[in-house]
Amino acid sequence: MGDVEITEVWGRVERIFAKVIKFEKLMASGYNQPPMTVTVRSFAKVNLGLSIGGLRADGFHELRTAYQTIGLHDVIRVSVERGSGIEIRCSDDRVPKDESNTCHRITEKVMSALRVTGRVAIEIEKRLPVQGGLGGASSNAVAAMLGLEKALKKTLPAADRLRVAAEVGSDLPLFLVGGTVLGVGRGEQVYPLEDLPATACVVVTPEVGVSTPKAFAAWDRKLTVPGASDRMIGLGRELSAWLSEKYSGAPRGPRGRAENPLLELVRAGIKNDFEEVVFPEYPELREGKLALERAGARYASLSGSGSTLYGLFASKDAGGRAAARLRKQGWAAEATVTLTRWQYWGAFRLGRAGTE
Ligand code: C5P
Repeated sequence: MGDVEITEVWGRVERIFAKVIKFEKLMASGYNQPPMTVTVRSFAKVNLGLSIGGLRADGFHELRTAYQTIGLHDVIRVSVERGSGIEIRCSDDRVPKDESNTCHRITEKVMSALRVTGRVAIEIEKRLPVQGGLGGASSNAVAAMLGLEKALKKTLPAADRLRVAAEVGSDLPLFLVGGTVLGVGRGEQVYPLEDLPATACVVVTPEVGVSTPKAFAAWDRKLTVPGASDRMIGLGRELSAWLSEKYSGAPRGPRGRAENPLLELVRAGIKNDFEEVVFPEYPELREGKLALERAGARYASLSGSGSTLYGLFASKDAGGRAAARLRKQGWAAEATVTLTRWQYWGAFRLGRAGTE
């Protein structure tokens, strides 16, 4: 074979390679994907205690909390097809459908992190009350992210998922852990705590809108009270005492009797600092907490900055009876159960439609 022929053959080989590379790039861009819908559950959370620290230079507050996922949920359907753009569908008028929607915001970030293009449609079936405190919008976004990854058959590394989630909001990352989760920093640094047994829980959602930034600002005004800034260390100590009892085999509390560890945790003295600024402004929320306690809650609290309140009960029956009683009194109350990490992930994926 002469030099000219070799050059010609080599040129052809190069052209074939170029075509193969172009085809692979096209496949990687998602254009090969037939339309497909992934359906996931987007569970709610409550806060088992929340301590607010000082205002940071970035405008956020240092905080410590234990998040707990619960059985109430929305359903999120994610589909991807050829094209571009993000469409949010939801029959509830109170849910924004534009770029401000957390699902929209996270989708943009996930598509860019994965370097793919496509037309993404996210349908939010709203079953959760829209009142604050349950982390609904945050949970929807994490569900959308994981649903989108499945639909694209691509996975973001765990650290990227946490980063993207934290960029969208402080209480998104907890939904990447599930179960009982320790939250520090601005709430976005999350650590799994020991899986606690499922505990009956009643959620009360008064029709009051509490603004989280305003509640934080009200707390700042309170910080002039001596000793208030030590509070956060307090929750650290209580959580740490509880955790070391669990793991070190140190002597248990009075009578050394083991009870539901979740009820042990709330009895360790944890409380939600937001109650101190939210209850005076919305006395009906304090009433709601008292109503939960009168209905038999072992522990009742505001969740996050509210307006959601919740109570923990000794049994499912007790929770069911309490919810019925509260509804009779005119409260919007729903009985549910706390979810362990295993239950959270076991129930996360609902199904898929379309070709895979
Ligand atoms: O992070 P996220 O979007 O949920 O925060 C909403 C608002 O709540 C922030 O803009 C900030 O005003 C306030 N916030 C805060 N400290 C936190 C979390 C939230 O001051 N740790």
